[in-house]
Amino acid sequence: MEIIKDAESLRRYSESKRRAQKSLGMVPTMGNLHAGHLTLLERATAVCDAAIATIFVNPLQFAANEDLEAYPRSLDSDLKALAAGGCDCVFAPAVAEMYGSGTQTSTQVSVPELSQILCGQQRPDHFRGVATIVAKLFVLARPDKAYFGLKDYQQYLIIKRLAADLFLDTHIIGVETVREADGLAMSSRNAYLSERERRIAPELYRAICAMRDALDSGARDFALLEDRAAAHLSAAGFSPEYVRICHADTLAGASGDDRQLVIMAAARLGGARLIDNLRLELPAR
Ligand code: PAF
Repeated sequence: MEIIKDAESLRRYSESKRRAQKSLGMVPTMGNLHAGHLTLLERATAVCDAAIATIFVNPLQFAANEDLEAYPRSLDSDLKALAAGGCDCVFAPAVAEMYGSGTQTSTQVSVPELSQILCGQQRPDHFRGVATIVAKLFVLARPDKAYFGLKDYQQYLIIKRLAADLFLDTHIIGVETVREADGLAMSSRNAYLSERERRIAPELYRAICAMRDALDSGARDFALLEDRAAAHLSAAGFSPEYVRICHADTLAGASGDDRQLVIMAAARLGGARLIDNLRLELPAR
């Protein structure tokens, strides 16, 4: 497995693959890898000739009051896991390599509207940071396919839009959320949960499963279902940020005619901010 730290070498690596007519799959990460990331890698290695994983804790997507310094970093064990998973190349640059002229003064990429709702309301600059780093990685490596976890469903839609709007050739692939045995979506930030909070955390998934079951059984009062789920989370000890039934493509609040839906939820539990979602298709009326 090749380990690359500078942008020019990544460009050269991917150019050499393209010249040899090899397809390239990219798995962008912030490291501290768990089974969810390794599933993305598995998907990339299954269909692409070469898989590049990137490990970069991107300062531009953290607000001043967020956990940039505390964000768990585990490069050595990440590299071992990637090598064992059949990764061909890892790009792990320093901040200065990606933002030579400074994080705030270099060019930024933003996807309006989609970035401002839901998580974007609590984290107003977050998705601009994500879109900027992903655009830089795509421009450097020009992957044929890039893999993102659907746990971050809003991020996935934003990156799809970014690739389409900037006429990039990269096909964006969303991969189903990997869960712990009790349903909790895997996330690096689960490490912030105390033992007690970890026991409560699966209630987030249970709350959105209950909404899905109610919708599947014909319930159509979306506001009532959202309020009930938020009350369920508060009673369990969370501070809910939002629980919404949205149109699956636009993330606008769902209307009675929408068939393709996604239930989106974010809630704080102790020092952790957890998100989860479930997609569902309602039968035509
Ligand atoms: O999902 C993540 O880990 C990050 O937001 C990403 C896509 C790697 C960009 O830094």
